[in-house]
Amino acid sequence: MKNTLIAPSVLAADFANLQRDIEMINTSEADWFHIDIMDGVFVPNISFGMPVLQAINKHAKKTIDVHLMIVDPDRYIKTFKELGADILTVHYEASTHLHRSLQAIKNEGMKAGVAINPHTPVALLEDVIQDIDLVCMMSVNPGFGGQSFIENTYKKIKQLKEIIVRNNASTLIEIDGGVTDKNAAQLVEAGADVLVAGSFVFTSDDPIQTIAQLKKITSL
Ligand code: DX5
Ligand code: ZN
Repeated sequence: MKNTLIAPSVLAADFANLQRDIEMINTSEADWFHIDIMDGVFVPNISFGMPVLQAINKHAKKTIDVHLMIVDPDRYIKTFKELGADILTVHYEASTHLHRSLQAIKNEGMKAGVAINPHTPVALLEDVIQDIDLVCMMSVNPGFGGQSFIENTYKKIKQLKEIIVRNNASTLIEIDGGVTDKNAAQLVEAGADVLVAGSFVFTSDDPIQTIAQLKKITSL
């Protein structure tokens, strides 16, 4: 049976009750904390920064998966390690020397991720796929929670899976944006290993139950 990982996105949490929402994720069947860092330059929104991640790290008892939506991410690799990131993901579109960025992340002892925007072809990752621990495939345009899922993602997951298999890599495929109970099973069937879910979890009446539901429908 496939154990799909569920990563609630803290962007959709109630920031006035952040500790409560972190404890909810700790208690739930969720596997990772997904942390969205936005700089207002790479994406047209600003989320939160270092002090908030430091506070999250104090309470979070699971893997911290940091998704950097910032220009020139190399400037902060060391800092995010110090703030508790276990996985650090940079955007393909924001990295001039992607191979160097991946090595720098690994040299700090973190898993290295690459995020790709909906318009970015997965074929562009082929020559670095063996160096990538995680591909964060955006299934919405990055910058905001609560957007609707882009259907073309299924095709891209299958193409990426082929590249991973062809290169004998162990890269995980993470899907980020618009994940719900309606598309979760189909995403896993296409080849997804990790599902990020923000608004679907946090706007539900019972987030713990919603996470359990996602876990159940993706255990194929
Ligand atoms: C979007 C972020 C996502 C977002 C997902 O830029 O990278 O992680 O929080 O939120 P939902 O699940 O609401 O689309
Ligand atoms: Zn994200």
